[in-house]
Amino acid sequence: MKNIVLTGFMGAGKSSVGRILAKRTGYTFCDLDALITKEAGISINDIFSRHGEQYFRRLETDIIKGLEAEDRLVIATGGGAVISSENRRLLHSMGCIVNLMAQSEDVIERLSAETDRPLLNDDRSHEKVREMLREREPFYADADIRIDTTGKKVEDIAAEIMDSLKGKL
Ligand code: S3P
Repeated sequence: MKNIVLTGFMGAGKSSVGRILAKRTGYTFCDLDALITKEAGISINDIFSRHGEQYFRRLETDIIKGLEAEDRLVIATGGGAVISSENRRLLHSMGCIVNLMAQSEDVIERLSAETDRPLLNDDRSHEKVREMLREREPFYADADIRIDTTGKKVEDIAAEIMDSLKGKL
């Protein structure tokens, strides 16, 4: 398989699970948000506040395109990367898409100490997170494998993904 692409809402555990998966598979871990901030030279908050979300989304697509020829990567995408049909098409062509499903309670808890999530900085209510999850569900559902992360440790989530990928790596 070329790459393992992790999708899912903010706080679903993509980066933590991705790092473990990279260790277990020998693939290289790669975080799209980290590549975007490196490219822009400023934080995600600053990209949104200075240039707007559309600019961030353009950078996100550029970074995904830049990885098209790579292989043996575990790619943690940003929570909104799969909204664009172009991004979804690119990501599907790059490998196996594994979606991490999370509930609003877990998302809010996992993001409680995080301040660099511009789309949730002003409002982190259950209503807001639930609404975003509902809007994005069709895009997250566009995956090869879906894993429910509710109540599971990151190590166990990674093990479940390894099981699902057996014979494909
Ligand atoms: C976003 C998720 C963030 C980051 C940006 C936008 C989103 O990534 O890309 O703040 O639209 O859901 P994480 O999912 O890694 O938090």
